[in-house]
Amino acid sequence: MVEGQAYWDTQAATYDRATAWIEPRLLAPAREWVAQRVRGHTLEVAAGTGANLPYLRGRYELVVWDSSGALLAEARGRARDLGVDVTAVQADASRLPWPDAHFDTVVCTFALCCVPDEVAVLREPASVVHPQGAVLLADHVESSAWLGRLVQRGLDVAGRRYGEHHRRRPLLRLSEAGLTAVEHTAGRYRLVEQVAACRA
Ligand SMILES: C[S@@+](CC[C@H](N)C(=O)[O-])C[C@H]1O[C@@H](n2cnc3c(N)ncnc32)[C@H](O)[C@@H]1O
Repeated sequence: MVEGQAYWDTQAATYDRATAWIEPRLLAPAREWVAQRVRGHTLEVAAGTGANLPYLRGRYELVVWDSSGALLAEARGRARDLGVDVTAVQADASRLPWPDAHFDTVVCTFALCCVPDEVAVLREPASVVHPQGAVLLADHVESSAWLGRLVQRGLDVAGRRYGEHHRRRPLLRLSEAGLTAVEHTAGRYRLVEQVAACRA
């Protein structure tokens, strides 16, 4: 079993409710930014309950991937409600089974904060994305504001048992995963950061 999967399985029924307040304020703008850059055959890694699906609908082929069967069941239900055709696969994001350059776009949002090794997970998109394709990331990251960082330090302690990390910045780890940034932006106080990357 993937580390943290048991925890995520328990979140399936409540995840959308638990994130309802921050979803429109912090997460949705980042989802829109990502969706505007999605092209072609797309893989979403660690898709959770499928919160990106309303933004990604209309893509001609979409594969969503997560280690939690319970969360994927939510994503399948959401896809059905939206009339979005997806292939949903339960498996570990750090071992993607596709050949080199299989996807035009790989999306990963709000998930690199909760895997044990974010560089190991980033290496996979770097290999399955086409050399002219894009890896699109959004995550909550280390804030540019001291007060934000102070709160995040506390949250890191509180969230340790859930495997949650509040002060990572995937943008700064791209080169270790064979990726290079082509565009990045962040919201106020850099609470959430979006990155478009390509193979280095
Ligand atoms: C905070 S949720 C984010 C879900 C979704 N991407 C979003 O934007 O709302 C993190 C997700 O990462 C998944 N996850 C954690 N570790 C994983 C792994 N090793 N492989 C695949 N999925 C993983 C969890 O099951 C959970 O659905």
